[in-house]
Amino acid sequence: ALVSATEMLNKAREGKYAVGAFNTNNLEWTKAILVGAQAANSPVMIQTSMGAAKYMGGYKVCYDLVKDLIDSMGITVPVALHLDHGDYEAALECIEIGYTSVMFDGSHLPFEENMEKAKDVIAKAHAKGVSVECEVGSIGGEEDGIIGSGELADPKECKLIADLGVDFLAAGIGNIHGSYPANWTGLSFETLSAIADITGGHLPLVLHGGSGIPVEQVKKAISLGVSKINVNTECQEVFAAATRKYIEEGKDQQGKGFDPRKLLEPGTTAVTELVKQRIEWFGSTGKA
Ligand code: G3H
Ligand code: ZN
Repeated sequence: ALVSATEMLNKAREGKYAVGAFNTNNLEWTKAILVGAQAANSPVMIQTSMGAAKYMGGYKVCYDLVKDLIDSMGITVPVALHLDHGDYEAALECIEIGYTSVMFDGSHLPFEENMEKAKDVIAKAHAKGVSVECEVGSIGGEEDGIIGSGELADPKECKLIADLGVDFLAAGIGNIHGSYPANWTGLSFETLSAIADITGGHLPLVLHGGSGIPVEQVKKAISLGVSKINVNTECQEVFAAATRKYIEEGKDQQGKGFDPRKLLEPGTTAVTELVKQRIEWFGSTGKA
């Protein structure tokens, strides 16, 4: 069923596991994520960046696709359709269209403006039962044109945003979009603990840049309050690797191997396998 993310993330926070939030790009990825979550009997979040939604033909197309696939595929696990790193206008548009969850990312704005816009998005979203994620501090690296400084979040600012009634909070804790550089010093658990404490110990926290974080750090972050983990780059990597292997083995030149339904199959299966593995890492297998 298509649901808001509030209940699944509150349950995860209390149960000390995290829900995977996987970025989609097209029909195949959307199916791959749904198949993985259903096989794992786990709640899941499917998210579109603004760029991916544009690529897919707009937010309405994304919404219809996810909603209709849940029905036609007989998906019974809870699924939230979430806008990833949305600006103010995108967040309002997605709330209108039927997304069940939105991220308003005002992290690059002056803090006052981030607060003001967050407050408005939260009011409009909650009026329609839509859950909201906001961001404080900054996730390093680049994702779909969104470039972050990697500045650690200020726990006092996190508290101010939490008090607006945000449903879950993304905070910069040394995490980076894309792959991690060799000299990366790891997540700042000190910052994470301070944010969990100051926000009262129950607010679900979000870990962006989930690709490439060692599993021990992922588990420690979950134990300290992370309840949603975003994974994008690793899905792209396994999709590309499986597709490359298929072509390098010449399978696209055998029979009707060039048929897109065959050509895209190994990559799609690879995404499903990764989704199942990450759900297992995050501890949400069987939690539907
Ligand atoms: O918002 C999406 C994520 O933070 C994805 O990060 O590409 O490093 O997995 P990633
Ligand atoms: Zn992100």
